Amino acid sequence: MKHFLQFSDFTVEEYAYLFARAHHLKTLFKAYTIYHPLKDRMLAMVFEKHSTRTRVSFEAGIHQLGGSAINLTTGETQLGRGEPIEDVARVVSRMVDIVMIRTFDQSIIERFSVHSRVPVINGLTNQYHPCQILADIFTFVEHRGSLNGKVVAWIGDGNNMCATWLQAAALFGFQLRVSTPPGYALDTRLATSEELAHLSILADPMEAVKGAHLVTTDVWTSMGYEAESEVRRADFADYQVDEEMMAAAHPEALFMHCLPAHRGEEVSEGVLEGPQSVVWDEAENRLHVQKALMEYLLLGRL
Ligand code: CP
Ligand code: NVA
Repeated sequence: MKHFLQFSDFTVEEYAYLFARAHHLKTLFKAYTIYHPLKDRMLAMVFEKHSTRTRVSFEAGIHQLGGSAINLTTGETQLGRGEPIEDVARVVSRMVDIVMIRTFDQSIIERFSVHSRVPVINGLTNQYHPCQILADIFTFVEHRGSLNGKVVAWIGDGNNMCATWLQAAALFGFQLRVSTPPGYALDTRLATSEELAHLSILADPMEAVKGAHLVTTDVWTSMGYEAESEVRRADFADYQVDEEMMAAAHPEALFMHCLPAHRGEEVSEGVLEGPQSVVWDEAENRLHVQKALMEYLLLGRL
């Protein structure tokens, strides 16, 4: 049994398989073709934080594959009254076939997976967001082909998205340039030497985007850090991805953002809505890649 708790859990070869399946499932979906390989399978979604894309893509996705979903939130379950995560894992995983969790510390999802009888998917933690990077790389490949040898510029917070991009950089062979304000650096304590070899830290965001094939950013205040948002707004003021930054990137550069976006903060309206932005494709592709992921975790290779 496999889990998908961080991006480094899978090999490049497995990603190649997943992307081929995602492409196939997307084609079926666009043609209204019924495909129910997960008939009668049940997905439990555990949300300890808010969500729009993750909720809709997983619930619609399992339904389209013939299964169904249960949504569990902290406030409405015994999780909110302190039931240990290990107990929740043992109970829920006796009743469903697969679990997706969005929570705070990565250790919570790891503890859940140790006690789970079924595959567990990370739907975002404070440390990682592997499903989003799965969609982002699939989206880049659709638009521009392989990321191998390319440059990805991350501007803004050294957060869960940034850390997941670094794992992907080592796997797919691209260079990740990270530019964060002082005090918001990417935590590289858990990074492997291979990952560190694919990382360049640049203080100046204009230097980081120079010639980059993909420019990407995220909110200045991630979920769980709301108390810092006032201070962060001031600290990140020089880190908005705007038209000037995109002009310094490669002429064919794409812009990505996992969404939700704050126009006028981490990204200008013009870039988000501009011709280089693929954010809506990115969001849609969450559906297709996660369907491929659930199919793979439950049925293996077909
Ligand atoms: N990008 C993403 O995970 O969005 P949600 O928070 O809406 O799920
Ligand atoms: N870094 C953001 C991503 C939201 C999808 C957060 O963790 O809130």
